Amino acid sequence: NRPPDMANRPPLRLVSGLPVVGHFAENWENVQCFQAGDGDLIIDTYPKSGTTWISEIVDLILHNGDTEKSKRGPIYERVPFLEFAVPDMPTGTEILNTRKPPRLIKSHLPVQLLPASLLEKNCKAIYVARNPKDVLVSYYNFYHMAVVHPEPGTFEEFFQKFIKGQVSFGSWADHVKDWWKMRQHRDILYLFYEDMIEDLKREIRRVMKFLGKELSEDIVEKIHQSTTFKAMKENHMANYTTIPSTVMDHTISPFMRKGTHGDWKGYLTVAQNELFDEYYKKEMADTDLTFRF
Ligand code: A3P
Repeated sequence: NRPPDMANRPPLRLVSGLPVVGHFAENWENVQCFQAGDGDLIIDTYPKSGTTWISEIVDLILHNGDTEKSKRGPIYERVPFLEFAVPDMPTGTEILNTRKPPRLIKSHLPVQLLPASLLEKNCKAIYVARNPKDVLVSYYNFYHMAVVHPEPGTFEEFFQKFIKGQVSFGSWADHVKDWWKMRQHRDILYLFYEDMIEDLKREIRRVMKFLGKELSEDIVEKIHQSTTFKAMKENHMANYTTIPSTVMDHTISPFMRKGTHGDWKGYLTVAQNELFDEYYKKEMADTDLTFRF
């Protein structure tokens, strides 16, 4: 019973074998031939793994913890989303092409679909990974509210699609494993959402070190206070409440939903959990990458 302007859920489309939000597929050529510049930094994640959180942290670090500067615009303008394309809004590539490097670039691209230019320019990358049970639950709620996605169906139906890699940006396991491999020969900081929950200041310092930024203890504390879940949920420049409701409808589920580790325990049945453990074991048999649930 959604109003007509919200009946906007195109089916996913395949681009080079990867399922993505239908609208995104229309701008794909511009994504693939995107020209990176010296010093561009890419923030990459599988969806729902802490992209917005790390973006806010990086923006604050680069502005020496100045919270006035980090409120200069919403997070999706401060850290443009490379693949983003929906009707009546500028695309990610349009925004990025108006800016001079060094730029911050958000992306959900798996390694094999990164624009060649990002690799040729040896752009640094920060990757954040999150345990897939929490990703699944977060993604399910996000599909409901980010109305550019197809209807998620029941939790069981979405669960099945997720473990088959039939959700936007495809297989979680391939994504995290391929980036894990790539960090061996590229300048990549690979972070975990669970570590950020455990000790946010420690992880902020790791990001600073990676970016070659030295900041005083007071400033690190200020960045910490500004990037807690509570602070970001209340910050309109970080919580996506400024994006049109034709893209995200916060009345269905807020973007800043729970922000915790282990929320999956309230969603998966015993049978689903067993099935998921089998999926995880099989998919992760060929890697030394591990997750905390
Ligand atoms: P939940 O849906 O589990 O609450 P992304 O930015 O990659 O789309 O990830 C969104 C997830 O990160 C959401 O998870 C959101 O609540 C969580 N998140 C965002 N900011 C956070 C913060 N400061 N602390 C903890 N979790 C945060």
